Amino acid sequence: MAAGIDDIAIYIPRLYVDAADFARGRGLDPAKLQKGLGVSQMAIVDTNQDPACLAANACLRIMQRNKLSPEDIGRLYVSTESSFDESKAMNSYVIGMLEQVYGQGAFEHCGGVETKFACVSGSYALYDNTNWIRAGEAEGKHALVVVSDIAKYDLGSSGEMTQGAGSVAMLLNDNPRLLAFDPKVTSTSIKDEYDFYRPFGKETPIVHGQYSNLLYLIQVRKALEAYKKKAISTGIIKLKDDETILDHIDFLNMHLPYANMGKKALAYLVRHEWRTLPRWKNIIEKIGMSEPIPKDPRGTIESVLGDQEFMEKDHEFTKMFTKTEEYQEVYESKLASSLIASTMIGNLYTASLYLGFRSSLEFEYQKGTSLAGTRVGFGSYGSGSSAMVFSGVIQEEFEEIVKDMNLESEIGPRKKLTIEEYEALHENKLGVTDSMLQPKKEFVLTEINSSVGSGERRYIFNE
Ligand code: CAA
Repeated sequence: MAAGIDDIAIYIPRLYVDAADFARGRGLDPAKLQKGLGVSQMAIVDTNQDPACLAANACLRIMQRNKLSPEDIGRLYVSTESSFDESKAMNSYVIGMLEQVYGQGAFEHCGGVETKFACVSGSYALYDNTNWIRAGEAEGKHALVVVSDIAKYDLGSSGEMTQGAGSVAMLLNDNPRLLAFDPKVTSTSIKDEYDFYRPFGKETPIVHGQYSNLLYLIQVRKALEAYKKKAISTGIIKLKDDETILDHIDFLNMHLPYANMGKKALAYLVRHEWRTLPRWKNIIEKIGMSEPIPKDPRGTIESVLGDQEFMEKDHEFTKMFTKTEEYQEVYESKLASSLIASTMIGNLYTASLYLGFRSSLEFEYQKGTSLAGTRVGFGSYGSGSSAMVFSGVIQEEFEEIVKDMNLESEIGPRKKLTIEEYEALHENKLGVTDSMLQPKKEFVLTEINSSVGSGERRYIFNE
């Protein structure tokens, strides 16, 4: 049975910080954000927004656009790493909000949980719900998987340049118009790690930045190795001599903590895949240096990062590799369009990968690329750490969905924050009711009960 993504909707907060203003405020060169990381703007939540109302807003958009009633939805999963309750699941808040529009009890049949594994949990939720459909348990109903996050780091930390916020809702069913997932190829890699984590009670994570970058690459590569074996053994991809699995993936979407991490990941995976192929000889000749090897090739991530000579040479090699015509062709045709939204919005943790997918659909369609029947690969990564690699095929009906995609109009009119306004929001100096924007046709938070032992949240739908 086919199963996959029928439609996709986004909700992005309309406040943002401009990368150049941010850089000036921190005494940084704006080019570090704009060119080095691929960050131009970072979406920031208003005082009356939390990840639950971002998720509810994306859900409402997808339900209204498809004229769905609550009866049509069999499961509603919310994946997040910005959870504000250790027990009450975020989907319960979302259902509470949706019932303000659809009537009390309208979703009582609709099961689901909140899933957590840093940025990768949305991919696990998609996989589980796809299998619920494949197993015939859905009985004609759809599943809603919503990924929603606020990426917030300490003021002055290196992570602060890679913030953002937003939510992506995906409607899954057995007759998807957008993308049908390839069966029996989803592959994972997992390891107990401390690259990025947020202990109980902390609003911002503890981050080992460069360690997390390298771990992301290693974990995704391992998951890709497992995917490769499955894709070949199931027969969905047949490799000829001098071919790699990436030659058969038309578009690649990577987890994007910042846009250039996608570029880093593509370069790393392509190098890994091409290294053993005849074409590599030509690449090495063009670069004019052999591929650097760490002093201890079997060493730990720390030992590789500490091997300064190797790191510098590897950096130089990567830069030259990414300038080759061969790499540029892969980058432009498979990845570039997925990075556009990330540059404008920033990190969305669980939602970053799917915002990237949404971005590639819109911008490839605008270029006139023929999309039906093409294979899309996904490289998902969550710190702590796990990677997931999977794929799907764009369906003939995709145009029904993609023709109306317009990132700018879906975000709506944005308000640029001054660095002082941004810092006041960041440091929670304003109350829930001190919002900077007037909400319109959206759910907002109206109160967090501050009496001891409470913490209950109230939301309204603003007409
Ligand atoms: N002009 C142009 N480019 C510049 C520049 C300048 N003046 N100064 C620096 N750059 C370039 C650097 O060369 C570098 O590019 P390359 O990697 O291509 O060489 C880029 O800008 C970034 O510079 P640094 O590596 O020196 O930056 P940093 O160490 O200060 O911070 C970071 C980068 C580690 C990613 C940091 O922002 C961070 O900790 N972010 C949070 C953690 C994170 O995003 N990790 C990613 C993997 S984990 C994950 O994916 C889960 C998740 O969502 C968090």
